[in-house]
Amino acid sequence: MQIKSAEFIMSNSDVAKCPKDRFPEYAFIGRSNVGKSSLINMLMQRKNLAKTSGRPGKTQLINHFLVNKNWYLVDLPGYGYARVSKSAKKTFQKFITDYFNKREQMVLAFVLVDCRHEPQPIDLEFMQWMGENQVPFSIVFTKADKLKPNALLRNIEAYAQKMLETWEEMPSYFVTSASSSEGRDELLQYIDSVNQDLNAS
Ligand code: GTP
Ligand code: MG
Repeated sequence: MQIKSAEFIMSNSDVAKCPKDRFPEYAFIGRSNVGKSSLINMLMQRKNLAKTSGRPGKTQLINHFLVNKNWYLVDLPGYGYARVSKSAKKTFQKFITDYFNKREQMVLAFVLVDCRHEPQPIDLEFMQWMGENQVPFSIVFTKADKLKPNALLRNIEAYAQKMLETWEEMPSYFVTSASSSEGRDELLQYIDSVNQDLNAS
């Protein structure tokens, strides 16, 4: 898929105030600092479309970016960021879960996990919640540039093994790097195919 345009539309903490049009949207979610905003920039080939930071907790709102004037990418705040206050953390969690529960336009979520780490309870719990709430998702292993190919394969294999303890099958997954653009074509092609299926139905 060619990216002809990508524009920031709005930021918000209230799912009821998100864009009212019916374009399909794809949400990026995962722990703080996993690389959600960087991945969006990489996909759009824009350096600063979504705000990134080396310090976790950068994205604090629901951010809508309109792509090719007919679908949205949604950048969400990270979960599991220990340094925000308990009440702020709860607010994040509530609007994240509200977003997924209420946003009818959300067709697919990408749950990002850092390819360097073994499966983290908070990510597994989040995916469990997504499953229980029937929210479709794919997994994205980020920061692939940080591992040698063999180590990367080993980690993904170990992740799949862990998932199979509770899931019937490993969800579809992608391997990406915001620095090398690895995975860009695959992910965009996947989004394109889902958009086409929606148009056909
Ligand atoms: P929050 O908004 O705080 O939840 O974080 P986020 O998930 O949006 O992460 P963000 O994109 O801001 O990236 C966090 C840090 O990881 C930044 O320093 C990025 O430069 C770095 N980073 C993100 N993706 C990659 C990647 O693929 N490779 C490398 N080497 N660094 C990355
Ligand atoms: Mg962010």
